[in-house]
Amino acid sequence: MIGGSPLTLSDEHRYALDRMEHSSEHLFITGRAGTGKSTLLQLFAKTTKKKLVVLAPTGIAALNVNGQTIHSFFGFPPKLLMKHDIGRRKNYRMFLNIDIIIIDEISMVRVDMMDNIDWFLRVNRGKNIPFGGVQMIFFGDLFQLPPVIGNKVEGQYLMENYESPYFFSAHVWQEETDFEMIELSNVYRQDERHFINILDNIRTNDIDEYTLMDLNERYVEEIEESEFVITLSSRNSIVNEINRRHISQLNNEEFTYLAKVTGNFPPTAFPAELALKLKIGSQVMFVKNDPEKQFVNGTIGKVVDLAHEEIHVEILNRDGSSATIKVPKLLWEIQKYKNKEEKISTEIIGTFEQFPLRLAWAITIHKSQGKTFDNVIIDVGTGSFEYGQTYVALSRCRSLEGIQLKRQIRPRDIFVDEKIVDFYQQKMR
Ligand SMILES: Nc1ncnc2c1ncn2[C@@H]1O[C@H](COP(=O)(O)OP(=O)(O)O)[C@@H](O)[C@H]1O
Ligand SMILES: [Mg+2]
Repeated sequence: MIGGSPLTLSDEHRYALDRMEHSSEHLFITGRAGTGKSTLLQLFAKTTKKKLVVLAPTGIAALNVNGQTIHSFFGFPPKLLMKHDIGRRKNYRMFLNIDIIIIDEISMVRVDMMDNIDWFLRVNRGKNIPFGGVQMIFFGDLFQLPPVIGNKVEGQYLMENYESPYFFSAHVWQEETDFEMIELSNVYRQDERHFINILDNIRTNDIDEYTLMDLNERYVEEIEESEFVITLSSRNSIVNEINRRHISQLNNEEFTYLAKVTGNFPPTAFPAELALKLKIGSQVMFVKNDPEKQFVNGTIGKVVDLAHEEIHVEILNRDGSSATIKVPKLLWEIQKYKNKEEKISTEIIGTFEQFPLRLAWAITIHKSQGKTFDNVIIDVGTGSFEYGQTYVALSRCRSLEGIQLKRQIRPRDIFVDEKIVDFYQQKMR
């Protein structure tokens, strides 16, 4: 059991597990949203005999799979890196003992990062072969959110040096190195055929007028405010405005809970608010899985009592009944891999203690990638502005009935990068 529900393993899952354990090929394990990629990743990490590290491009994505960010693992500074910036590290020995590096949410990993990882491993393992001989395993869906290109200089650099910003355009793949693609096809997050079809059509931009009309039946002119519903928006400003408006409408006293931070825990990786402000009646989201399985990362609830050491949150069960959970503070640890007696072990370099809650009348679509909800309002404001944004938003919800659209979805909110379509077509052949 991971996250509270029993797992069913398909033949594809078994095949992927077998290739990870018994081959040394580089692998790209892909599939639509909700096909259990992150779940399979964690299952493999728990059970493999190989020595591995788990990485992800962002702090939140890394915490989601109990891993570390790519930047912190390799000690890359957050800037454009050139080959000559990458040298042999003092602790290079720890990199000699790795069999596998796994990366989740690979769609957000930028092409130059892939080459930097390759170069770093060659230098630090003293082996001038791709990735210094490490088996690379990537998980993700390229039809979801793309890599971030921070500024013009970076954009220019990528344009001049690469065919696309995606990991598969890296120079390392142009030598005789390739990766095998394994596609997971069964969707676990949703179970309704009609909705899964709509999502598939949006994912690949194959949507016709009628399907779009079906989806737009979820448009509601005047959305009534109701509990346990979360708004997903493309814009941070809309999210903050919605949360501020809702909390200010509550007449209860406001309490502030300060997090306790120790060691080296960078603020960009804070998994919850440093100063969490709540009133009784606030809608909140859990931002961590409960060790006792009463809630998971993404569960929505309502604050019903605020005490010093405990917050009471009411949640809705899937059968419609409600339950009140006594939420304690939880601890997050930042791990660092290190070498110990020829084995890779982890060391805790920083901790963060806070109630695992954040205000959640609204969150950004960016933050929602990887999560599951029962009831959502989708507010794309003046429109989608990123590949995959509309797909990520809609695919967070378990059912079509759980979605209310604040604005109709227009054809121009749905766009995919042709380079991604071409890539998958080529790989499938
Ligand atoms: N093998 C499985 N059997 C049953 N449920 C699963 C399985 N894999 C995933 N799920 C459920 O499906 C949902 C999405 O899984 P997740 O791993 O986050 O998908 P992805 O990373 O592909 O988007 C989760 O709620 C998870 O509990
Ligand atoms: Mg995932």
